[in-house]
Amino acid sequence: MMEGIQTPGVDRRKFLKLATALPVVGGIIATVSPLLRLLKPNVERFGIYAPIRNDAPRGDVTVAATLSEVARPWDFKYFVFTQKYPQYTPEGFKAANVPGVVVRLPYKIRLPLSWVGDVGLEAKVIESDIYVCSRVCPHLGCIFNYVPNWEEVTAAYGGYVPPPNRRHALMACPCHLSIYDPADRDVPGRVLSGPAPRPPRTFVFEIQGENIVVTVVEPGGIA
Ligand code: FES
Repeated sequence: MMEGIQTPGVDRRKFLKLATALPVVGGIIATVSPLLRLLKPNVERFGIYAPIRNDAPRGDVTVAATLSEVARPWDFKYFVFTQKYPQYTPEGFKAANVPGVVVRLPYKIRLPLSWVGDVGLEAKVIESDIYVCSRVCPHLGCIFNYVPNWEEVTAAYGGYVPPPNRRHALMACPCHLSIYDPADRDVPGRVLSGPAPRPPRTFVFEIQGENIVVTVVEPGGIA
């Protein structure tokens, strides 16, 4: 008779304990499970780099010059390239104009295109006597000039006197007087003087018939 009275009470206590414990257990699971998920990353090793390739800027393919316009050593031609950067705009990009210069060198050089593979592209021309670079100065972004006569560099760009082996056309920035050598065999566009931290950014180009066609410029802004 006594057992018949106590049994429902015990069951009620068990039930109340269970009813109280369930939310606590649920809370612990809810707190810990997101942390456990962190033990299993959902990206492959280095897969994080993939979006950078997808976000790499793309430009409008442009005829920068014709072969006859830069037929002789030190001939040059200015051009403007439209670079499209992925952006959250209705068009999905933002366009910027990049002024560039095509220079005919007196000899072939290995073009500085090591960055091309990093953006998932391939360059058809990797050695040439045609050098094509951006005119945006890597120092603070002024537009630099191609100066056919090195003596003008000395006279008008801060008195820099190039050594005898560099007394040919140079490139010079009017803002803070950085001087570049487009014909340096080891580092095309080498900085000879001034504050520029690196050579100008280079274009990938190909020859299509009579045309020198630029397809993309090295990504990045000023250094
Ligand atoms: S912006 Fe060209 S040297 Fe400073």
